[in-house]
Amino acid sequence: MTPFAREQWYVIAYAHEVGRELMARTVLGEPIVLYRTEDGKAVALADRCVHRRYPLSESALVGDTVVCGYHGFTYDTKGTCVAVPGQSRIPRTARVAAYPLVEIDGFVWIWIGDPARADETAVPRAEHLTAPGWVTVKGMEPIACDYGLLVDNLMDLSHETYLHGGYIGTPEVAETPITTEVDAEAGVVRVSRHMADAECPPFYSRSTGIDGRIRRHQDIEYFAPCLYLLHSRISPVGQDAPLFRTEITYAITPGKPGEVYDFWAVSRDFAVEDAEVTEFLAKFNHTVVMQDVTALNLLQRALDAEPAGYQELSINIDAGGLAARRMLAGLAAR
Ligand code: FES
Ligand SMILES: [Fe+2]
Repeated sequence: MTPFAREQWYVIAYAHEVGRELMARTVLGEPIVLYRTEDGKAVALADRCVHRRYPLSESALVGDTVVCGYHGFTYDTKGTCVAVPGQSRIPRTARVAAYPLVEIDGFVWIWIGDPARADETAVPRAEHLTAPGWVTVKGMEPIACDYGLLVDNLMDLSHETYLHGGYIGTPEVAETPITTEVDAEAGVVRVSRHMADAECPPFYSRSTGIDGRIRRHQDIEYFAPCLYLLHSRISPVGQDAPLFRTEITYAITPGKPGEVYDFWAVSRDFAVEDAEVTEFLAKFNHTVVMQDVTALNLLQRALDAEPAGYQELSINIDAGGLAARRMLAGLAAR
């Protein structure tokens, strides 16, 4: 299992998912309840009543407080208990953890670690998700696998040729060597693959209207542990223009051991008014994501069934994934 890195920001939800209904998510094994105050501020508390551990997510939101659905302990937005049944004295220890949140770029980021160390300026940005001039389709799929398998999957796009052939993969993806760069200080792994003359897969031919061969650049930036950006640039072969820019965003959030939330988004700065292109990309990319989900569920089952001591074999295409694993191990060991 890939170790969990605490003292980090993770995407717990899209901003639009958090509202006046209590919502449960588990991050790094910690059960969390989310809601919005009447003023619209997002709140995250430990999802476990201090009394008998009833899930607060199965309780009632009354004004800005959560009233436990079992015996009525009532918590404010800081997690402090402000009322208990049958007595006026509230025990001093009656509180649940409140988590620091940052809402930015359409994501709700949560700090898992000591709240005193939460530095809001350290949240990595994905500005294209809400910037004017860009249109985004998005979703979230939970996967029953070690989150490291999703990191591996995204860092090595050679799998597009095989797992996503006929969708986003063409022979050139697997054939073209990558360059890998690690910025240890910033905590970023970069992987690039530049194809000068490649077949145009349906994902791009149907969204851009290009019907010939293309120049295709894939530049990945992985801000460990959570945010993954794939800067995709397409133009007709041998031409600089028109240049079609697509930003593919993933937030990789470990749930429990063996479970990961796969937040995915595809943003484009072309055909932004074209609803058909938007609908096509939403459906088509969901299909592609589900191909990965199926593969990773299968892969995890294979790993769970194998005898101890199995040695895997790595080649050049794995350089990015291996660098990411080293970075995650370093973050977890801190
Ligand atoms: S378990 Fe919440 S009030 Fe008893
Ligand atoms: Fe994939």
